Amino acid sequence: MHFEDKVVYQIYPKSFQDSNGDGWGDINGIRSRLGYLADLDVDFLWLTPFFPSPQRDNGYDVADYRAVDPRFGTMADLEALIAEAGAKGIGLMFDMVFNHTSTAHEWFQKALKGDEKYMKYYIFRDGAPDAPPTNWQSKFGGSAWEYVPALGKWYLHLFDVTQADLNWENPEVREELKAILRFWKQKGVRGFRFDVVNLISKGDFVDDAEGDGRRFYTDGPHVHAYLKELVRDSGIEGMVTVGEMSSTSIANCIRYSAPHEHELSMTFSFHHLKVDYKDGDKWSLMAPDIHALKEIFASWQEGMAQGGGWNALFWCNHDPPRIVSRLGDTGRYWKESAKMLAAAIHLMRGTPYIYQGEELGMTNAGFTDISSYRDVESLNYHDILRAGGHSEQKTLQILGARSRDNGRTPMQWDAGTQAGFTVGTPWLAVNSNHAVINAAAEADDEDSVLAFYKKLVRLRHASRLIAEGSIRFIERENNDVLAYKRAWQQERLLVFCNFRDHEVSLSRHLSLYQQEGYEKTLGNYEGLEDTLRPFEVVVLTR
Ligand code: GLC
Repeated sequence: MHFEDKVVYQIYPKSFQDSNGDGWGDINGIRSRLGYLADLDVDFLWLTPFFPSPQRDNGYDVADYRAVDPRFGTMADLEALIAEAGAKGIGLMFDMVFNHTSTAHEWFQKALKGDEKYMKYYIFRDGAPDAPPTNWQSKFGGSAWEYVPALGKWYLHLFDVTQADLNWENPEVREELKAILRFWKQKGVRGFRFDVVNLISKGDFVDDAEGDGRRFYTDGPHVHAYLKELVRDSGIEGMVTVGEMSSTSIANCIRYSAPHEHELSMTFSFHHLKVDYKDGDKWSLMAPDIHALKEIFASWQEGMAQGGGWNALFWCNHDPPRIVSRLGDTGRYWKESAKMLAAAIHLMRGTPYIYQGEELGMTNAGFTDISSYRDVESLNYHDILRAGGHSEQKTLQILGARSRDNGRTPMQWDAGTQAGFTVGTPWLAVNSNHAVINAAAEADDEDSVLAFYKKLVRLRHASRLIAEGSIRFIERENNDVLAYKRAWQQERLLVFCNFRDHEVSLSRHLSLYQQEGYEKTLGNYEGLEDTLRPFEVVVLTR
């Protein structure tokens, strides 16, 4: 499968388009927007989980991997979506949450009743009720172990207490998961995203004196063997696959994604989205460190290329805050910064992902009251931050910048009531700026953020250089500008991105490149100056 020239669009179904007025997005809502997606010219749609689920973690707590939650529609609706998208040349990618199941899954329910077979599907450990087996912390706060009095045992949950980790060491578990992939492949699904898949192989269950336990299970001992086996036996090799990797390394991502390893097509890594975490803590605010951002991109882009690996390129998904609010400007330079950020990512080496609403320049939610939040992580951390001594005001300021709900507010289709997302009451409030930022307004505007994304998608489709060229970072010492050079045969492409809200200079004036035969082919300002204007992006080709 060639995916070098492809672009993926991520849909968070709950917030994309509601078709029946219950305030939840649904599959028929997605079907009604296929024209919009075809117009954007994306190749794949990644749908986050729509499977039956108690929705403790918005569907990442799966209770049945082979069905559709009735709130999203029916299997017939889903089959129609696969067929209608396919007719437009768009493939579906489903989200496989295989590190854990919901505790409502029948496997876990049987385990709870003491069924030996199913107890071995999970990670149960003996222990006294007041002494969890290790001191590991859940990623959503609190201990990663939960005690079950009836069994006298603890089970592991790296995420919410209702998300029990599967025991991949058990071959029966691995067979179950392969069968699920075959089931969806038969339905015509064209690819898969694997949720936190580098956490599936747990190492030793020992206390972590230095951290939260992640070093024992991240990129764990058998992870590569398990992935090879899963891909080979389920017959999905050749389909487009992406693994979400938590706190991973370049060396491991090369192994996950280099074609000769026969694991995945590409990997998501998150280091570039932590440059505004003070001391590595998501809940401590800090201005973004642009120099660190550049160094991370340079090492991941060049390192993955050297090792034959392949990156998924992204700023946004349903977890991080909106990128314009984070690294751009939501005021005077909103449009310029949204375009600059788009170009910075889309012209790199890898496969770009667009998260719904990113192509409109959507911003953070702007909630000012805890009652507006829905996300389990945000609600947990609200209490943890308050208990840690932060005022309610400070806590809301932190959530306003860091909550996952920032990226989950409904898609802004038009300026009407509820942004055209629903005729009912949305499950999560619509951002009030939908009066200005919306798809209808931008579709009619050649200078819009949406129009700019369309150009970027078409450029990737048309250019071998963008799809396949090498990459080298330039202006490395410059703390304001991210810049790189792509090369393929005799063609060259240069990208200069100003991450500041003021004019900045380069070590080498842009006009000097013109003297070498470079021409400007894309940008977010008219003309070309020697320096870069606020949030300017300039793309030169030769
Ligand atoms: C991934 C998902 C996130 C989810 C977590 C646990 O990080 O993107 O939304 O909460 O895995 O499944």
